[in-house]
Amino acid sequence: MTHPGARDLIDPFDRVVRDLRISVTDRCNFRCTYCMPEEGMQWMPRSEILTFEEIERLARICVEHYGFEGIRLTGGEPTIRAHITRLVSKLAALGVDLAMTTNGATLRNLAHDLRQAGLQRINISLDTLDRDKFARMTRRDELANVLEGIAVAKQAGFDRVKINAVVERGTNDDEIVDLARFGRDEGVEVRFIEFMPLDASDAWQRAKVVGQDEIVAAIASEWPIEVVPATGAAPANLWRYLDGGGTVGVIPTVTKPFCGDCDRVRLTADGQFRTCLFATDEFDMREALRAGETDDEIARRIETAVGTKWAGHQINQVHFIRPKRTMSQIGG
Ligand code: 5AD
Ligand code: SF4
Repeated sequence: MTHPGARDLIDPFDRVVRDLRISVTDRCNFRCTYCMPEEGMQWMPRSEILTFEEIERLARICVEHYGFEGIRLTGGEPTIRAHITRLVSKLAALGVDLAMTTNGATLRNLAHDLRQAGLQRINISLDTLDRDKFARMTRRDELANVLEGIAVAKQAGFDRVKINAVVERGTNDDEIVDLARFGRDEGVEVRFIEFMPLDASDAWQRAKVVGQDEIVAAIASEWPIEVVPATGAAPANLWRYLDGGGTVGVIPTVTKPFCGDCDRVRLTADGQFRTCLFATDEFDMREALRAGETDDEIARRIETAVGTKWAGHQINQVHFIRPKRTMSQIGG
């Protein structure tokens, strides 16, 4: 339910912004090749990372002033931020749909606590079911822990557990059917994500993108599926298995951009407000918070930032400029 007294925050292309992605740390216990370099990440200085109180205040302003309905916690890896369940409780109290994207490695210990703190939905990254390939892709031998994390998350009673799988040609594109089968067997929705140009090593090439059409064809060659009509601003396109095996999705950022329905804005761990994953501009909310600005003043800054939201990203244009930050520094 929208907060009483809130008004819609409308961007220059008439989209209503209602969803906030909050990165709580730029650090991670994995080093996925499509996201981070093996070594030498420059971590944000601790003093620049927003405190829980600062994050909560910004989130509350978004909810009270602009009726935000959803908040998703991301990283880096959000569960390695100390006392993350404390932040989850604070944000759950705002009455929003509260979700998290995690690599799952710590969930076997944390899933129940997160659920009790009020986390409603969880997305877990899993790009391969092969232990060696997992170790190559994440540079950590943690497949068993992630699988256990998924199992515990299912027991913990979240509204939904989903799996995110980034598909990279020549690496895990031979596992689309196996991952889809895993989702069917486990009763979780698998969402395949097109590889985006946000990796730290600048190894992204269009040829490494496996597009939605190819992903869907692979799944359809194994099981009959039908399109699930789109609802709302969720980035995934969904298909239903006709035999009752659940649903499967694709997030086609590169081949079929869904920017026209985007309702999202982002806050980085160091308090920079971004209107798109691929935005080249940021708005410094940390400075505003620490300068003692009022809620109204901060709300106006949010409005100014949203006034710069682009119609869509430019990945497919010749003049596309990669953002200076990588995925782990922005938040997925
Ligand atoms: N392309 C697509 N998805 C990515 N992720 C991280 N880097 C990339 C990339 N270059 C995904 C992770 C996780 C979420 C946080 O973002 O797999 O699901
Ligand atoms: Fe960590 Fe997620 Fe980046 Fe992998 S994709 S290195 S799990 S932040």
